[in-house]
Amino acid sequence: MDNCRVELIPAERTRPLRKRVLRPSFSEAQLVFPGDEQESTFHVGTLVGDEVVGIMTVMRDPQPGIDAPAWRIRGMATAPEHQGSGFGRAMIQRGCDEAWSRSSDAIWCNAREVAFGFYEKLGFVKVGGLFEIDDIGVHSVMVIQPH
Ligand SMILES: CC(C)(COP(=O)(O)OP(=O)(O)OC[C@H]1O[C@@H](n2cnc3c(N)ncnc32)[C@H](O)[C@@H]1OP(=O)(O)O)[C@@H](O)C(=O)NCCC(=O)NCCS
Repeated sequence: MDNCRVELIPAERTRPLRKRVLRPSFSEAQLVFPGDEQESTFHVGTLVGDEVVGIMTVMRDPQPGIDAPAWRIRGMATAPEHQGSGFGRAMIQRGCDEAWSRSSDAIWCNAREVAFGFYEKLGFVKVGGLFEIDDIGVHSVMVIQPH
């Protein structure tokens, strides 16, 4: 798409899509994730014109059970009308490049079962067992190592 771009955006611009795609029942306060405003946290957006149609947040957070610094992806979403257009891939690439330019640590996320295939395509692997997150469903930790 001609007028689309992937760039870093402020935390507050992630919130409308977080609500619409990921957590429709959440209040405004619940849409603020702990760590959103930390200095080391950054937010990647896909913009079409001025509209944010894709979001991803990356923050410093150790992988559960592993005592080492790591990056964590949270709030990964593409607006339904733009899914399948390559925006998710572009944001993961931008986010991983940005993270690894700052610190070469593993990047992990709690992936929803419906997104396992997406992360696998992008080089993430499942680690540990499946677990349930209330009101959302089955998840797995998925990890990608720096290259
Ligand atoms: C998962 C999500 C972020 C993917 O974003 P997207 O912009 O649609 O992804 P892309 O178009 O960049 O897809 C990249 C590749 O992954 C594949 N893919 C996308 N979603 C997939 C899925 N759910 N399962 C398997 N493969 C998937 C695409 O076919 C594409 O493959 P290709 O490059 O070989 O054609 C998006 O579907 C979404 O927001 N879903 C709802 C919210 C969600 O589940 N977020 C993840 C929370 S952990």
